Amino acid sequence: MIKISFIGGGNMARSILGGLLAEGFHPQQLRVSGPRPSSLEALEAEFGVTTSQDNMSVCAGADVIVLAVKPQVMQSVCEQLCGHIAADTLVISVAAGITCASLSHWLGGQPAIVRAMPNTPALIRAGAAGLFANALVTLEQRALATQILGAVGLACWVEREPLIDAVTAVSGSGPAYFFLFMEAMIAAAQEQGLDAATARALTLQTALGAAKLALSSGDDIGVLRRRVTSPNGTTEQAIKSFEQSDLQGMVSAAMTACRARAEALAQELGA
Ligand SMILES: NC(=O)c1ccc[n+]([C@@H]2O[C@H](COP(=O)([O-])OP(=O)(O)OC[C@H]3O[C@@H](n4cnc5c(N)ncnc54)[C@H](OP(=O)(O)O)[C@@H]3O)[C@@H](O)[C@H]2O)c1
Repeated sequence: MIKISFIGGGNMARSILGGLLAEGFHPQQLRVSGPRPSSLEALEAEFGVTTSQDNMSVCAGADVIVLAVKPQVMQSVCEQLCGHIAADTLVISVAAGITCASLSHWLGGQPAIVRAMPNTPALIRAGAAGLFANALVTLEQRALATQILGAVGLACWVEREPLIDAVTAVSGSGPAYFFLFMEAMIAAAQEQGLDAATARALTLQTALGAAKLALSSGDDIGVLRRRVTSPNGTTEQAIKSFEQSDLQGMVSAAMTACRARAEALAQELGA
C-alpha cells in the first residue's frame, strides 16, 4: 500500500489530500506534518489522516513525500529532513520557483525529485499542473506523481526543467488572467446597463461554456472563434477592437514578464 506524507498542510496539501481520498486512497495511507496543532486537528477531523508536528517522523516509511510549504521556508524544511529520507522515496515539491538542484542540495544528496507547478482550481479538482522529473525518478515514480497531481486535475509532463517557468506563465498564474478578463467583462456589461448579478452570471457561464466547447470540440480554437464571427456581424467589431489594441502582444508580454519573475525567484530563493 503506497504511503504518502505531506510536509505542510495548507491549501495545496488539502486540495491534493481531498483528491486522493476521492480517488480511493485510504486515510491510513496519508500523513501530514505542520507546525500548528489546531491546523493538524482540523485536517484529522476533515480527512481522517494521521498528523504530526514532527516533519521527520512522517517521512519514515513514506513512498512519496510531498513538500507543500511556502518557498520561503523550503530551505529550512529540507535541511531538517536531510538524512531522514530513504533512497527509494520520491520527493514531490509543489513550491513555486525552487529548482531540483536546490532541493537536492538542501536534502543533502541525490533523491528522486519531481517538481510540480499546480494551480488554484486544484481546490475544486479542476487544476492544471506541469511536472518535471530529475534523472533519478523511475517510471513507476513518474506514474505515481501523475496519479497524485492527476487527483486534482490535469497533469502534464515537461522534459526540461526551465519549462516549469513557462508552465507557471501559462497555468500556474493563468487563472488570474482569466479572472482579470472576467472582471473587465463584468464591469463593461454593467456600463452597458446590466445589473451586477446578471453581468456576473452571463460572464461566468460564457467563460465556462467557451472552455467546455473548446475541450469537447476537435476543432482548432481559431475555427471556433471564426464560427461566431460572421462578416460584418457584431462579434467581428469586438474582435477588430481587440486586435487594434494588440491583444496577442499584450498576452505575450504579460506571460514573458511572469516567466522572468519565476526565473528571478529561483535565483533569489535557490541554493
Ligand atoms: N495555492 C496555490 O494555488 C499554489 C499554486 C502553485 C504552487 N503552490 C505552492 O504550494 C506551496 C504551498 O502553498 P499553499 O497555498 O498551500 O500555502 P499555505 O496554505 O500557506 O500552506 C503552507 C503550509 O505549510 C505549513 N508550514 C509552515 N512552516 C512549516 C514547517 N516548518 N514545516 C512544516 N509545515 C510548515 C503551514 O502551516 P501553518 O499554516 O500552521 O503555519 C501551512 O499549513 C507553496 O510552495 C506554493 O508555492 C501553491
